[in-house]
Parts: sequence; structure tokens; C-alpha cells
Amino acid sequence: MNIFKFEKQDSDEVIKLWNDCFLKRYNIDKYLFDEKLLNDPDLFWPCVLVCKTNEGKIIGFIACKISNGSIEEYKNAAWISVLFVHPDFRRQGIASKLYFAVENELYRAGVKKIFAGGEIRNFFSGITYPFEISKAFFVSKGFEVNGCEHYDLCADVSKIDFDSLAVSYNKSIEYITRPFEEKDFGELMNFFDSEFPGRWKFEMTEFIKGGKNLNYLLIFCCKEEIKGFCKINTGKTHVGLGIHLGENWGALGPIGISKDLRGKGFGNRLLYDSLKHLKELGVKNVNIDWTVLKDFYGQFGFHPWRSYLGAYKILGEMNDF
Ligand SMILES: CC(C)(COP(=O)(O)OP(=O)(O)OC[C@H]1O[C@@H](n2cnc3c(N)ncnc32)[C@H](O)[C@@H]1OP(=O)(O)O)[C@@H](O)C(=O)NCCC(=O)NCCS
Repeated sequence: MNIFKFEKQDSDEVIKLWNDCFLKRYNIDKYLFDEKLLNDPDLFWPCVLVCKTNEGKIIGFIACKISNGSIEEYKNAAWISVLFVHPDFRRQGIASKLYFAVENELYRAGVKKIFAGGEIRNFFSGITYPFEISKAFFVSKGFEVNGCEHYDLCADVSKIDFDSLAVSYNKSIEYITRPFEEKDFGELMNFFDSEFPGRWKFEMTEFIKGGKNLNYLLIFCCKEEIKGFCKINTGKTHVGLGIHLGENWGALGPIGISKDLRGKGFGNRLLYDSLKHLKELGVKNVNIDWTVLKDFYGQFGFHPWRSYLGAYKILGEMNDF
């Protein structure tokens, strides 16, 4: 068995192995593989490796990304986006070999903290279910694993009458939810600087500057003052998340309300407005990723369909391998 740098012509074989190694709910297609991995500017190519048998069959894969330093909390951080080994070749030290090859390389690149999943354009926000083996693996490599699961949630909004749900929310007419417009940019930055200055500010700024459909960024306003935001998305076909959610799927999140409005029914209000908006766009299944707030979203009919455990490792002084 030997370790090689991944090459683009390995893609189909890696995707097939990926889908054989994880539960069906974590399966991917070529679109997701390209979008979330190969085309991600944070992908750290020296740490995208395959393990092959002597006959050249791929039996293991690891891919890492490195933070470009734009977000303070991820300075000197890297992520293991994915790691898997063919079921017939497990417990032979292959994942360990792949892991140590990348840890060494990341250390040389100045990385001080490694997360399991959870990068900016992630497939996986942590270690995937079932946890027993994957958790044992990461613990064996010195990772701290979170004791509490987080989830991707789903509901078919086309089948939910949001007005008949027993959910109370703040109906104040002083507040409206509407799509972001370019003129709102300065006020939106003030809002993020005061309320969510880290990752969410970065992600939403990247979204706006990336020339995407601005109607998919909803803002919650009192007159001209922005007090909340909610990012939504839609997809028409059975590609990407659509392989799991079917056609006319949607996504919601992140969503956030300013601190001074919390506890007054405005979170429910923004969620209600945003879900109704998605429903009006003709969306069916909606995904809400990476959340522990099962009950908050559960009020609106959402239930977990994938779960994860967060995990990280702080790199100390190391000898060369
Ligand atoms: C997790 C996974 C990558 C481990 O691959 P592997 O090549 O079998 O792992 P290794 O042989 O290097 O195991 C290293 C250590 O992990 C732990 N471990 C691995 N498999 C284990 C198992 N079945 N039971 C308990 N501990 C296990 C042990 O501590 C092991 O050390 P040891 O063999 O000296 O006891 C593999 O099981 C897999 O592909 N799982 C599905 C995909 C997945 O969950 N990936 C992780 C999330 S991205």
C-alpha cells in the first residue's frame, strides 16, 4: 500500500469509494465534490492524498483545507474535510498513515489547530454518524471530541401551513423581512461588526461580493436599521444537495438576530418570514445545516436527518516523521 498525491483523474474512483464508506445520507455527487473540494480556494493540495494497493486500486482518501487567515478565529487553522478507508482494508493503520502524513505537512505549513470538518465550504460540519469508530479514530490521534451532537435538519415546507402552527412570534409591524439590496451594504456591515463579526460576516460579505443572487440574503429591519439576517438558497434539480432532498430543494441559514432583540419572539418571526418566503419560491425540502437548535426549528416542523460531533486538535511541538 502506498500513499500518493490525489490527481483529478482519481475523482470518479474517490467519489465511488466515498459513497461506499459513509451512510447514504452523506453521499455526494461530482457537483458537490468539485464545488466543495476541488474548486475551494482553501483546499491545501499537498494534503489531498490517496492510498492505493500495489495494483493501483484506491482504498483510502484524505483532504485538508487551510484557512487563508481572513477570519480571526481560524488564524493558523486547518480542517480535515474528509477521511475514509475502504471497509475491507480497515484496522490496518491506513487512516493513521494518511492522517500523520497530513498532520506533518500542516505543521510545517504553520498550522496550530486542526478541526475535523466545519470549514467554510464544508460537506461535513464534524465527525459523521455512526460515531463510535470515527470518534475512536480521532481520539487516538489526540483530538478533543465534543460530547454533544449537532445536526442538519430538514422539512418539506410545501406541506406545512405555517399559519396554523402553534408557534408564537412577534408580529410587530415596525419590523419587516426583505431581500438585501446593494444600498444596505454599509448598514449590514455595521450590523455584522456589532453582532456577528467573525465567520458570518466573512461568509455574507463573500456571498454579496461573489455576484450571487442577492434576493437570497434576507434582512430583518426596523425602518432602515438592520436587526437580523437570514441566508437562504434554492436548487431545482437532483444535483448537489438535491441528490438527498429531491427537486426544488431549499436551504436556510445562517440566521441571526441582534442581541437586544433576543427573547422577544423576533427569532421565531424572522424564521417564520424566511420559511414562508422559501415556500413562496416553490421550494419543497429545506435543509438547515450545522445546528444544535433542534427544538427551535422543530417548532416549524424540522427534524434531524444527519448528525455530527465537533472535534479539534491543538498541534504542539513535534518531531519530523
Ligand atoms: C474512521 C476510519 C477512517 C478509520 O480507518 P482505519 O484505516 O480503519 O483506521 P486505523 O487502522 O488507522 O485505526 C487507528 C485507530 O483508530 C481507532 N479505531 C479504528 N477503527 C476502530 C474500530 N473499529 N473500533 C475501535 N477503534 C477503532 C483505534 O484507536 C485504532 O488504533 P489501533 O488499531 O491501534 O487500536 C474508517 O473506519 C472509515 O473510513 N470510516 C468511515 C468514514 C468515516 O467515518 N470517516 C471519519 C469522518 S470524516
